[in-house]
Amino acid sequence: MSAAALAAPPRFRGRMPLLRFLRTLKDSSVATYGEEMFENAIVERRVLWQRYLIVNAPRGIQRVLLDNAGNYVKSRVARRLVEPGIGRGLLTSEGEAWRRQRRIMAPSFDHRSLMSYAPVMTEATAAVLARWDGLGDGAPLDIAVEMMRLTLKIIASTMFSADAEEVGPIVEEAVGRYQREVRPGLLDLLNLPDWWPRPSTRPWSHIFDRLDAVIDRLMARALGGSAKSKDLLARLLDARDAETGRGMEPREVRDQVVTIFMAGHETTALALTWTWYLLSQHPAEEKRFHAELDRVLGGRAPSFEDLARLRYTRMVLEESMRLYPPAHTMSREAVAEDEIEGHRVAKGSVVSIVPWVIHRHRLLWERPDVFDPERFAPERASARPRFAYIPFGGGPRICIGMGLAMTEALVILAMLGQRYRLRLAPDGAVEPVGLITLRPRNGLPMLLERR
Ligand code: HEM
Repeated sequence: MSAAALAAPPRFRGRMPLLRFLRTLKDSSVATYGEEMFENAIVERRVLWQRYLIVNAPRGIQRVLLDNAGNYVKSRVARRLVEPGIGRGLLTSEGEAWRRQRRIMAPSFDHRSLMSYAPVMTEATAAVLARWDGLGDGAPLDIAVEMMRLTLKIIASTMFSADAEEVGPIVEEAVGRYQREVRPGLLDLLNLPDWWPRPSTRPWSHIFDRLDAVIDRLMARALGGSAKSKDLLARLLDARDAETGRGMEPREVRDQVVTIFMAGHETTALALTWTWYLLSQHPAEEKRFHAELDRVLGGRAPSFEDLARLRYTRMVLEESMRLYPPAHTMSREAVAEDEIEGHRVAKGSVVSIVPWVIHRHRLLWERPDVFDPERFAPERASARPRFAYIPFGGGPRICIGMGLAMTEALVILAMLGQRYRLRLAPDGAVEPVGLITLRPRNGLPMLLERR
């Protein structure tokens, strides 16, 4: 399969006229990136009075995310999109509040915790397999929807264990509405200050009301000591700051629960969706993937220990997140003036880091548009600049759920790939669109094929 056949929005040359730029940005921000992205370490854009800097070099990215991370806070645009529903969880908090939350939450995502969450992943994937077995060969599926439901089920079971059945549909409704209805408005894109008058109620500010009521009830029960298991909710409620001995307030725990749902399930589902798409387009790599599953697992469901032995499967997943990074853009705002790669960064500039661009950069990757999992063989991966590959971000604010996401995605790929091959449905046009995440515009219709 030639590289040209892979789905990517067309790149353009030169500057887009303002109106077209704004229209494109609202539809899919990744479609606004043109060839000029590969010509400079920093590309400056101005939308009326707001300066946007796009950093396209690993050293510059390292400066923003790691070396001078204290100077770059989450941008107002990003905050305004997520805070009305999600509140001040780990994704949006800053400064001492963020450091405290991160310290308290880190143990809930460590290796031991991941091991305890793994059985939920196998169980939920086995239920999907059972349903697929009932559909039969050639059955059409929207794999984007399938992966979204599965990762939602897994995060709901990890969070609420016994109550996942009851909470799942409520989370699904809230998250679905959030994804459909939340769009940046023009006022957001212009990065106007918080005091600027805006329409008084955001249409999406009540999306989480039903979910909030359930979380409140489950938290009250867990605090009353009647919950049976050590699910993620119980861990968050029990967690204490090693420095002060204090835990999180109930409102903070609520914000973390919603944050984890929002940050954790769609991204993982998209990583899987794009992986199935890429495998369907590359029969040789797909064959190697299947051979590894057969050799390592011999038909069993994977144990947590097996995952470390699924080396090629991991490389496939990593290469898929290179070509289709679910979190395609990160943005920050400069607190004070700085210099990146010889370029002056004025105070208040919005600085974007775009995995979608850096992962396909011509100067960093050989044949960047070609799907080649071998790039992630350890010796080749270690020869690359560290910030050339950043699907989970980097520095202190690197994704806290990275281990959870990798574990979950490997379990799902291994179990479904052992029994099924997925074929792109005839005429299934695939187009990535980047809004908050990078999704296939029309879902991903595929056909089931039993191996
Ligand atoms: C393939 C799946 C995932 C991808 C690609 C992904 C990507 C990212 C990225 C790029 C960031 C950094 C954002 C920034 O610096 O602006 C981030 C942060 C975060 N992610 Fe993930 N993520 C994934 C899965 C998860 C999961 C499973 C969870 C939770 C269960 C999660 C929870 C979070 C949280 C809470 C943060 C904020 C961390 C902080 O600021 O300290 N993510 N993620």
